[in-house]
Amino acid sequence: MSSKAIQSRFSISTPIYYVNDLPHMGSAYTTIAADAIARFNRLKGKSVLMITGTDEHGQKIQRTAEAAGRSPQAHCDQYAAAFVSLWEKMNIQTDRFIRTTSARHEAIVYEFFQRVWESGDIYMGQQQGWYCVSCEEFKEERELLDDHHCPLHPNKAAEWRDEQNYFFRLSKYQSALEQLYSDRPDFIQPESRRNEVLSFVSQGLQDFSISRVNVEWGFPLPVNPDHTIYVWFDALLSYVTACVDLEAEPTLENALSGGWPVDIHLIGKDILRFHAVYWPAMLMSANLPLPGQVFGHGFLTKDGQKMGKSLGNVIDPVDLVARYGSDAIRYYFLKEIEFGRDGDFNEARFINILNADLANDLGNLLNRTLKMVYKYCDRQVPTVAISEIPAEDILRSKGEMLGEQVTQAYQALAFSQACEAILSLVRASNKYVDEQAPWTLYKQGKQVELERVLYGVLESARLAAYLLSPLIPNVSTSIYQQLGYSVDFNQQDAAAPFETHSLWGALPTGQTLGEAMPVFQRLELPAPPT
Ligand code: MSP
Repeated sequence: MSSKAIQSRFSISTPIYYVNDLPHMGSAYTTIAADAIARFNRLKGKSVLMITGTDEHGQKIQRTAEAAGRSPQAHCDQYAAAFVSLWEKMNIQTDRFIRTTSARHEAIVYEFFQRVWESGDIYMGQQQGWYCVSCEEFKEERELLDDHHCPLHPNKAAEWRDEQNYFFRLSKYQSALEQLYSDRPDFIQPESRRNEVLSFVSQGLQDFSISRVNVEWGFPLPVNPDHTIYVWFDALLSYVTACVDLEAEPTLENALSGGWPVDIHLIGKDILRFHAVYWPAMLMSANLPLPGQVFGHGFLTKDGQKMGKSLGNVIDPVDLVARYGSDAIRYYFLKEIEFGRDGDFNEARFINILNADLANDLGNLLNRTLKMVYKYCDRQVPTVAISEIPAEDILRSKGEMLGEQVTQAYQALAFSQACEAILSLVRASNKYVDEQAPWTLYKQGKQVELERVLYGVLESARLAAYLLSPLIPNVSTSIYQQLGYSVDFNQQDAAAPFETHSLWGALPTGQTLGEAMPVFQRLELPAPPT
């Protein structure tokens, strides 16, 4: 592969989700964000690998399957399918869906284990401590609530364990990790998460156990089949497996040529240590390159508590998407919650924001402008040379900066900022129509001014739709089609290249417009139950 081709690749992963239960809005949140970033990079013409999947081994899954009276594999098959189906409903474009029970993954786990074994980083020891099965993690006594309950799963008690396990020599990598964080300050994002990790690591790293004796549902340890491989050791490797081309043999070599290391691991803040500390150390031990960045976002909360399957306070994304459609959900969660921070879900607020931003500001802007263009300009984009629009014109000056501003925001995963910048052009356009009053210009016979105004507004609506397309691809497609394009933002083709379409002034003059129709139907709050 040429270096140019390698440069134009982009890869992003979500965590792989536990299949102990159906997906909830918290799991959908990470995946929507990853999809938006993947789509943005596709718009930019990159060859993108968007990786997600399911985490199917370990005690939590084993117990859930037992309680349901199913074999673990049958249980995993059923629940993995629920994730695949939700991603389709949420309009997620997945390139690789990796399941940890697949034979391809097993091959990678064994090859990787062997390398770490040969590095001398695995040894047998005695593990004593409190284990939270919901986190699949040993906890320090001081991390637990009274009665040894885990703060993330306050209705579940951690369990005391005292058993022989194989350990990974994490402590050996203390200084190499510190060096990594200082050489690559962007490795952990946002800053608050980086600080958490620095503080954790500065307290001194302890080796961690990577095998279990009481869990059958996992890959047997090659060096001692009485043990299975710890679910997290196995799970992290899914990112490597996912990089192997689908037709290639599952080997580390092929993962390297297929795209490992990924650019961004997008995760929730609860699993930061695994990704920012354990994982880079494991990769160093196996002599594999490290990922570009680990970004830990916040939690979705309901009434202030982390939304989670264990707490039973989840919002059902299948129900939400059936009632409101995928664009609404994608937009709300990415616009409303500053990415990196926690955010609460409130249905009334959800509806207000969508109605205000998409139905009123964006939808009405397009609709009213199209109708004027039908009437005053014979359904065609007015013939206006951009050079005739003064540089200080509010729409031109805002529009000319927008592509770059929004690019920077997407690159920093600052979705709210991207939306705010785009919406600010949309709001300015609505105000501009009110102030310039094209209907008056028409009556006064000022056709040149009229066309300049209408062009500016149409073009601003187009640019807004283009830059919002990673978040609301269906709405953006509808806007583009009404503007006379045959572009579909759900097709991964190059029909609307970034170099031209991200610039204000790209709307071709003389283009015949399509039929005006509402781009986003106003939402109503469901009637309260009687
Ligand atoms: N299986 C592990 C990840 C292994 S990755 C190699 C896991 N799975 S999980 O299903 O419990 O969680 C997956 C992701 O969903 C995590 O990033 C977690 O932070 C995220 N969320 C789960 N509940 C969440 C909220 N309430 N809000 C936002 N994200 C949350 O951990």
